Amino acid sequence: MFFTPGNHPNTLSNNPFNAIVVPRPIGWISTLSKSGIPNLAPYSFFNAVAYDPPQVMFAATSSHTHGGQKDSVQNAQDTGEFVVNVVTYDLREHMNTSAVSAPPDINEFEYANLTQEPSEMVKAPRVAESPIHLECTYTQTVELPTDDPAAPNTVIFGQVVGIHIREEVIKEGKLDLMAIQPVGRLGYLDYVHVTQSFNMDRPTWS
Ligand SMILES: Cc1cc2nc3c(=O)[nH]c(=O)nc-3n(C[C@H](O)[C@H](O)[C@H](O)COP(=O)(O)O)c2cc1C
Repeated sequence: MFFTPGNHPNTLSNNPFNAIVVPRPIGWISTLSKSGIPNLAPYSFFNAVAYDPPQVMFAATSSHTHGGQKDSVQNAQDTGEFVVNVVTYDLREHMNTSAVSAPPDINEFEYANLTQEPSEMVKAPRVAESPIHLECTYTQTVELPTDDPAAPNTVIFGQVVGIHIREEVIKEGKLDLMAIQPVGRLGYLDYVHVTQSFNMDRPTWS
């Protein structure tokens, strides 16, 4: 099978792109609007992109159904801050609830029945129920090409300025991913969570 984007054969029920680049980590992004309303939403076009200093990105692939940019994008740009909360298996339903396309004046922490916890370095609150948070300062926006001008592809970059890790998910000096069970996005409406891992030594050139 070969096809060009937008022309997938009808033996595939959906565009499979989302199911090819998997699993994608989920950045559960909390922000404050410029008028101080907390916002929370998951983004699976999310990743770490640099170590020193640590930097992350998330991307909105359309505008807000209520018009304008999605709230996370607008708020990160307006306030210069956002927080990445790690989604655990236990928090999957809360994460999904927070994806509702609510108007900008709705606080998705309340809508998804989650607790706001103050951050150290930024004003945006954290999800208290999540064991790991990355406090970030906004660095730049990159507008990517789009096939539909009404659906911008907007990438937000940020620098991590504070890291919270709950003590109980640290085991022998390492993050215990079996305890955290981070959730990843697959294609369609499918997800994965970490339940096993393996390690491999890096090869050396002799
Ligand atoms: C698991 C998951 C991942 C998502 N990833 C993205 C994404 O990468 N980009 C995007 O634009 N929307 C994504 N969405 C949809 C947004 O969460 C949704 O549009 C949300 O209402 C945006 O909220 P905001 O306007 O408060 O930022 C995702 C939804 C779910 C459930």
